[in-house]
Amino acid sequence: MSDLAGKTAVITGAAQGLGRAIAMAYAQAGMRLALLDVQADKLKQLAQELNTDCLTVAADLSQAADTQAAIDTVLREMGTPHILIHNAALLITRSMQQIQLADWQKEVNIILQAAFILSKAVWQPMIDAGGGRIVYLSSGSGIRGFVEEVAYCPAKHGQEGLMKVLAMEGQPFKIAVNTVTPGAPINTPMSAMNYTDDLKQQWVDPMALTPAFLHLARQPLGGLSGERLNAWELSQQVGG
Ligand SMILES: NC(=O)c1ccc[n+]([C@@H]2O[C@H](COP(=O)([O-])OP(=O)(O)OC[C@H]3O[C@@H](n4cnc5c(N)ncnc54)[C@H](O)[C@@H]3O)[C@@H](O)[C@H]2O)c1
Repeated sequence: MSDLAGKTAVITGAAQGLGRAIAMAYAQAGMRLALLDVQADKLKQLAQELNTDCLTVAADLSQAADTQAAIDTVLREMGTPHILIHNAALLITRSMQQIQLADWQKEVNIILQAAFILSKAVWQPMIDAGGGRIVYLSSGSGIRGFVEEVAYCPAKHGQEGLMKVLAMEGQPFKIAVNTVTPGAPINTPMSAMNYTDDLKQQWVDPMALTPAFLHLARQPLGGLSGERLNAWELSQQVGG
């Protein structure tokens, strides 16, 4: 039996792309899953395909109340998670001249506000449980600027900052907080919308990155924290 069997993972943005791949890998390891996404139908369909104990919560993570209600449901129904992976994001490229405040807020809220609300909700339960693991999906946009990423880029930078603070505050409580950047072009709906044809020639199945997420779930309490990890490189190192 897998060492992760029966342990609970919360994964946001699980309806498609990388989040879906992580959910499949965790299900194969026998983990119990709480899957959050705004795409309710896709989420339900995935849950039917996964042969594991699985709670799906349809939620718009750009909305604070919806996000709070979703994680409250997860904590009530599944208890304190072994690992929280905040993977949901939205990238719509728009220049400063084009973007409106409401569009900016939506992207920032999904990426950064939800990271805060979800982490805050599990923080005390993880302290009470003796520790835990929190992961935010970052990006090259978490450390560099890109034209027309007026919302996505600062939000990803914000996640990196939140990770650094929470890793320090979490250290005495054995709560590990890390960010993960894909590190390789991945074949996901977000990529299909944004990659050049050249990049699409090189993209890999997001399942190729899942060993990194299994590795993070396997970290002992008090393990790896405060790091910005490269999922592609880490997956090559730790293997399937
Ligand atoms: N695709 C890439 O090349 C790439 C590169 C760097 C980082 N990332 C990051 O990896 C993660 C996964 O990316 P992906 O390519 O699988 O993206 P994707 O767009 O294919 O999937 C994102 C998921 O987030 C969900 N989501 C979007 N808005 C939401 C909302 N308001 N509420 C709840 N859920 C919502 C979507 O429904 C979807 O299931 C993201 O954090 C992304 O920023 C991706």
